[in-house]
Amino acid sequence: MDIAVIGTGYVGLVSGTCFADSGNDVTCVDIDEDKVAQLRDGQIPIYEPGLEPIFARSIREGRLRFTTEIQQAVGEADIVFLCLPTPPGGDGQADLSAVMSVAGQIGPLLEGYTVVVNKSTVPVGTGDRLEEAIAEKASSDRFAVVSNPEFLREGAAVEDFMKPERVVVGTDSDRAAETMTTLYEPFVRSGNPIITMDRRSAELTKYAANAMLATKITFMNEIANICERVGGNVDNIRRGIGTDSRIGKRFLFAGIGYGGSCFPKDVQAIHHTAGEHGYDFKIVDAVMSVNNSQKTSIVRKMERYYGTDDFSGKTFGMWGLSFKPETDDIREAPALYIAEELVGRGAKLLAYDPEAIGTFKEATSQVVLDNTTFVHNQQEALDDIDALVICTEWNEFRRPTVDRFQDHMKQPVIFDGRNLYNLERAAKAGITYISVGRPAVGVDEELIEK
Ligand code: UDX
Repeated sequence: MDIAVIGTGYVGLVSGTCFADSGNDVTCVDIDEDKVAQLRDGQIPIYEPGLEPIFARSIREGRLRFTTEIQQAVGEADIVFLCLPTPPGGDGQADLSAVMSVAGQIGPLLEGYTVVVNKSTVPVGTGDRLEEAIAEKASSDRFAVVSNPEFLREGAAVEDFMKPERVVVGTDSDRAAETMTTLYEPFVRSGNPIITMDRRSAELTKYAANAMLATKITFMNEIANICERVGGNVDNIRRGIGTDSRIGKRFLFAGIGYGGSCFPKDVQAIHHTAGEHGYDFKIVDAVMSVNNSQKTSIVRKMERYYGTDDFSGKTFGMWGLSFKPETDDIREAPALYIAEELVGRGAKLLAYDPEAIGTFKEATSQVVLDNTTFVHNQQEALDDIDALVICTEWNEFRRPTVDRFQDHMKQPVIFDGRNLYNLERAAKAGITYISVGRPAVGVDEELIEK
């Protein structure tokens, strides 16, 4: 099939490359000339495991092209994917200006029957608006607008795209549904379903999935907070409830809160949409407020440990800056908030991340930059520090040489926001170890929040 992908951000680039890899002819369009030039040159602007080899091969074999010219790409296409940014607008609702502007351009360019697919996460009813905008310049029997939300995890996007647990297709048109089924069949050979439904339900499915997952994480974070107060261990509770197949083992890891480009934005958006329709979606309101407080809960533990909120004269190492491992994305990353709070209390930081130092530097404030030294490996971030703060569970942090903590740090004190280490081993190694929802090792005083 001939496919046009409008927007070469994270979703567009992964989708376009994976469609090309499965034998389609794909033209990706972007208004950013530098980016298009870079992509044509074979350079990928994002870090995503597994993307580079299939990207290079698809370009080499002529199935993946990049252009700034929308007319050529759309004219030839059987399917046009819209993969455009929908950032939160000032009012908590997604900003649709990019999507609507492209919709306005597409109508006159359509040749033959074209399926226009929206992949961006958009408020319920956006498909109707897209259809109206395109119909101003094209007869309605020449196209169909489909909602096909993406469920890609950053860091595992290629794997998720190639072997999706499900594909959701929202349309009332049988013809469009058939085209979409033909396109996605190679990706669900293992028997996973292509679920066809009405467009509004498909749009809402994306928000419901992310809001449910954010709620699941937040629920466990609250259980962790209760564990700290009553003297339990959230790891045991995770095992105890996760074996119930109605609950499931995944997404039950307590920590310093969810971040990223999707959960925070989508939870806010579904709350807003519900409110606009006169419904107070209370559970997600609570999720947002608990998550905000969870992000900096580690700083409050540090205050109690040191018995002061003045950290002047102290240097803390930070391991991990990205919002999760295997990505350089720092959007809504707890590390941003934690760095701000620590520096705000007078501390200096030694920060290390395998991929996200560059993006972190761009996003953080001047005062954090002025008080942070960025280092090139995990050992350097331990040199002469008062304590280590772990913000992201990169694999390389999971098995550190214990001696390094003892030898390099002033005192071996670790505040772990991701529960990486075994409590008994930490105790045996003589490390003071304070994690989330588990008994603190090597400290007498209560670290719980009053
Ligand atoms: C998410 C969804 O998984 C994906 O389907 C959707 O399309 C986009 O949003 P992503 O933001 O890439 O993907 O990250 P994900 O791996 O889902 O993690 C989200 C956040 O939750 C991270 O901050 C992570 O650290 C946190 N998390 C996840 C937990 O705190 N505990 C868990 O058990 C799982």
